[in-house]
Amino acid sequence: MVWDALYSSAFESVRGRIGGVGKVLLAYNTNIDAIKYLDGNDLERRVEAVGKDEVLHYADELPRRIENVGQLLGSILWSIKHGKAAELFVESCSTRFYMKGWGWEELRMGGQVGIMANLLGGVYSVPVIAHVPQLSRLQASLFKDGPIYVPKAGDGKLRLVHPRDFAGDEENCIHYIYEFPRGFGVFDFEAPRENRFIGSADDYNPNVVMRPEFHEHFEEIAEKAELGIISGLQTLTGKNYREPFEELVRHLEILNAREVPVHLEFAFTQDETVRRALVDVLGHFHSVGLNEVELASIMEVMGEKGLAGKLLADDPVDPIAVTEAMLRLAERTGVKRIHFHTYGYYLALTDYKGDFVRDALLFAALAAAAKAKLGDVRSIDDVVKAMDVPVNEKAKTVEKRLTGEYGMKNGIAEIDGYQLSFTPTRIVARPKSTVGIGDTISSSAFVGEFALH
Ligand code: AMP
Ligand code: GLC
Repeated sequence: MVWDALYSSAFESVRGRIGGVGKVLLAYNTNIDAIKYLDGNDLERRVEAVGKDEVLHYADELPRRIENVGQLLGSILWSIKHGKAAELFVESCSTRFYMKGWGWEELRMGGQVGIMANLLGGVYSVPVIAHVPQLSRLQASLFKDGPIYVPKAGDGKLRLVHPRDFAGDEENCIHYIYEFPRGFGVFDFEAPRENRFIGSADDYNPNVVMRPEFHEHFEEIAEKAELGIISGLQTLTGKNYREPFEELVRHLEILNAREVPVHLEFAFTQDETVRRALVDVLGHFHSVGLNEVELASIMEVMGEKGLAGKLLADDPVDPIAVTEAMLRLAERTGVKRIHFHTYGYYLALTDYKGDFVRDALLFAALAAAAKAKLGDVRSIDDVVKAMDVPVNEKAKTVEKRLTGEYGMKNGIAEIDGYQLSFTPTRIVARPKSTVGIGDTISSSAFVGEFALH
C-alpha cells in the first residue's frame, strides 16, 4: 500500500537526520498533570453529595472559571456529555483542596512546553531550552534525561542547566486531569468519545507569568536558539492579556531579527479578544498548529461564519472547507505554514514546496499513534512500533475529495501558489490517554520538517 511505504521512508529519513537539529526554544507553559481516570459510581455519589441542582446545569453551559465544587463536577459532566476537552482555572482554595483529596492515579509532565521538552529532548535528543514558570522539586523530577535546559542567572552570567540541576524550590503548578473513555456512563449521559476535563490549580501558567531570566536575558537566550515553539497563550483573558502579549511581541521581534522560525501552538482560546489579538500577531510567526475547533474559532473572529460552520459540520471534517479556511488565514496574516490536525488526517499549507513537508507530517502521525497507544513515548523505536496501528479507513474519502478538487498526488497538491500536503493518520482504537497527543503531533511535524530540509 502506497501510504505504508511513504510512512516507512519518512520515518527512516527523519530518524537519520533529527540529530542535526540545533536548540529549540520552548515557551511558555509547563506544569504538573495529576491524572484521574474517572469512575462512574464515584462521580455520581459526589454529585449527589453536593446536590444535583447545584451541578447539572453546568453540564449544559460551562462556567467561565471554577469557584466551587458544584461547578467543578458540572464542568466534568459537560466534557463527558459532549465528548469534548475543556480547561478551566480553579480559583477557589476549597475546591483546590477538594481536588487534592479526590486524588490521582498518575503524575505526569504537563503543559505544551513540558510535554514537548520531554519528547524533543528526552526522546529525539534534540536540544531544547524550556520556560518553566515555577521549578519545584516535583516539577523538575518529571523532566526526562537528555539535552533539556533551563536558563539560570547568577554572578551576572546566564547558564543553561538541566531542570534538576536548577535546584529550584518554587511552587507546584498542578492541573487535575479527569479522563474518561468513549462510552463512559454517568446518570443518563454517555461520552460520545474519549476525552478529558482539566481543572488548573495554578496561578502562573493561566496568567502566562514569565520568569525573570526571560525578561532580563531574552537576547542571550534567543542567540542560542535555532527554532522556537510558543504555546500557553490560550488561557489569557481580555483583562490580563496585554502585558504578556507585549513581552511576546518583544520576544518575537528578537527571534525574527535572528531569522529563527517560530511555531505557534494555537490551542483552544475561549476569549474572543485574545483570539483576535493572536490573529493580529500571527504574521510574526513562521508556522501555526491547530485542530478543527480552533480553526473554526479563528474563522469566527475573522468574520467567516459560514466557513466556521462547515468546519464543524462533518465527520471526518470536510477537507475542502479546511483548505479554504487555511488559505484565508495565510492570506490575511502572512503566516508561511499552517498545520491542521484532526481525528483521521492532517493537512499542511505552506508557501514553499517539497515532499519534506508531507514526510514530516507522516513522522508526526506515527509519533501520535505511539503516544496514544503507550501514553508515554520512551524512545524513537517506540515511534516506529506504531507502524502496526492501521491507517484510518475514513481518510480514503478525504483523499478522494482532495484528488478530485485539487489534483492531489501522493498527498501533495498546488493551490494558488501554495503547497497543500496531506497525510491519513493511524488511529489507536483504545488510547491509553488523550492528553498531549496534539503537542506530540505539532512538535514532531515542525521539528521533523527542519530536520529534513
Ligand atoms: P488536540 O485536538 O489538539 O487535543 O489533539 C488531538 C489530536 O490527536 C487529534 O486532532 C487527532 O489527530 C489525534 N488523536 C486523537 N485521538 C487519537 C487516537 N486515538 N489515535 C491517534 N491519534 C489521535
Ligand atoms: C494544557 C494543559 C496541560 C496539559 C496540556 C496538554 O496546556 O494546561 O495541563 O498537559 O494542555 O496538551
